[in-house]
This record gives sequence, structure tokens and C-alpha cells, in this order.
Amino acid sequence: MSDDGCPVFVPPIKSQGIKTKLVPWIQTLMPQDFAGRWIEPFMGTGVVGLNLARRSALLADTNPYVIALYQAVGDKAISGRMVKSYLIKEGGLLRSKGEDHYYAVRDRFNTAHDPLDFLFLSRAGFNGMIRFNRKGGYNIPFCRKPDRFSQAYVTRIVNQVNRLAAVLSEGDFEFKVQDYQVTIAQAETGDLIYCDPPYAGRHTDYYNGWDEGDEAVLNRLLRETPASFVYSTWLSTRFRSNELAEKYWSAFPHMTQDHFYHVGGSLDNRHGVVEALIHSVDLSSQARVPLARELELTLF
Ligand SMILES: C[S@@+](CC[C@H](N)C(=O)[O-])C[C@H]1O[C@@H](n2cnc3c(N)ncnc32)[C@H](O)[C@@H]1O
Repeated sequence: MSDDGCPVFVPPIKSQGIKTKLVPWIQTLMPQDFAGRWIEPFMGTGVVGLNLARRSALLADTNPYVIALYQAVGDKAISGRMVKSYLIKEGGLLRSKGEDHYYAVRDRFNTAHDPLDFLFLSRAGFNGMIRFNRKGGYNIPFCRKPDRFSQAYVTRIVNQVNRLAAVLSEGDFEFKVQDYQVTIAQAETGDLIYCDPPYAGRHTDYYNGWDEGDEAVLNRLLRETPASFVYSTWLSTRFRSNELAEKYWSAFPHMTQDHFYHVGGSLDNRHGVVEALIHSVDLSSQARVPLARELELTLF
């Protein structure tokens, strides 16, 4: 079970755009007999592919840091045990030194890029956000809770790392740091591409610029690919509607759902959003099947 009671495996890295709550909905678009490769060009935290991929998956992103952590867990270079002793040590220093220690780890990460420091920052940064400045430096401020790494919190993170290791050991997961155009070009007939790019005009940072030019390229690539695709975007918030969705995607079927993002720095990003799944899936094969990870979660 995830933190909030849904049967979705929650990975150890969080971010403001994480799709944990949308995984069961996205899964309704997977063909029941899906035997192809899960292709995810904008992996983010990986929560969607880690839950839905069956036999094999290509998970890619231009942000190298989540990928470095997951690869290290998959290769057993980082284990739950190592994470536990690291977080106990760094959490103790945070408790005694306060925010100075958070910023010391942040400086250290921005120089050496240790995956464990990235995990620490993502779990002790303000509002669980991931954001990088123009030079590519992680720049999220401290969450202002020196007691952040309580025993229960460390245990929860260690369990997530252990589950990640179990999921990666069962499937054929390939991680790549690469642009979405390269990833989409690697999809073949029978594969399913799940695209969740940065939302145009929202959450812009070093790894998350997105404009109409990108939308047009993505639209062309998804029209041309021999694979099926599911594309996550938004249609409207209380303040505005997404004109790019109307302009580029109206020829494709779509489903909508109201969603509320709990993490995010600005007020605008904390309001409800009408999410959309635009797709090219043949709905005659659509069916509710158990989440790939749903059954095994009882083991943990
Ligand atoms: C909205 S997030 C994906 C969130 C993910 N679905 C989740 O649930 O965690 C968008 C991701 O796209 C990545 N990204 C931005 N531009 C990219 C590009 N040109 N090619 C590949 N990935 C890119 C960002 O680094 C970010 O991780």
C-alpha cells in the first residue's frame, strides 16, 4: 500500500508532478493482453512505469539524478541497508546542526552528485519539490523540520528503496538519460509510450522547459510512431485553459479527471487541475486488470 492507501508502489523520490494518484486511471488504457515494451520518455519519479510495466520497460529522462539513484539500486550498488545507515547519520546531523546541514548537503550534492545526497534532499526539501536553477544546481530550500528523519520516516524510505529493488529485479528495466525525441524513436509496433512532459508554463526549471515548439514536435512524433501512446496533459485550472491541448490534440480521443496536486510552491500550482489522457489506444482491448505490482505489495 502507498502512503495514502492506494495499491500503488510509491518510489523513494517524490516530485511536484508525481502521478501516483493517476496510476490506476492510466492503467485503464493498457490493453489486457499487453506484451510490448513500456516506453516512458519523461520518467520523472518513475511511479507510472514502475507500477504498470509488465515484461520490459525503457524509462528515460533528461534529469540524470533520479536515474542514477534507480540504476544504483537496480545494480545493488545502493541497498536499503545502506540507505538506512546513511539517513540515520545525516538525519542525526540535521537534528543537531539544523538547516546549516541541509545546505551543506545541498552544496555537496551540487558538486559531487551523490545519489544518496539526492535522496536526502528530495526528502528534506521544501514541499517535496525537485527544482534546478539555470546552471543546473539543485535549489530547493529546507523544509524547516530539523527532525525530518524520524525513525518512522527513515523506515518508510528504506521500505520504498527495498520495494524498488524488488520491482527492478523482477523486470527488464532499462534507464537512459536522453531527450524524449530519442526515446520515442526507439519505440516499435506493440509498444506503449506513456508521455508526461512538463506542463507548458508551469514548473519551469533547468530540466523542465516546455513550449509550443516542443508540443508540436511531440505531436508529430506521436502521430508517426508505430507504437500506441498515452499522453498526460491538463485541460484547465481555475485560472486558465490549455490552448495547446485543443490546438494539437483534438483529433485524438481523451479522458478527463479532476486532480489536486498537494505539492508545489506557488498557489497556482496547488489548485485543482482537469487532467487529460489523450491516447491512440484501441479501446476494444481496454480492460481493468490488476496493477502489475498490486499483488506482490501484500508481501511487504
Ligand atoms: C511532469 S514530469 C514527469 C512526472 C512523472 N510522470 C512522475 O509521475 O513522476 C516531466 C519530466 O520530464 C523531464 N523532461 C523535461 N524535458 C525533457 C526532455 N526534453 N526529454 C526528456 N525528459 C524531459 C523532466 O526532467 C521531468 O522529470
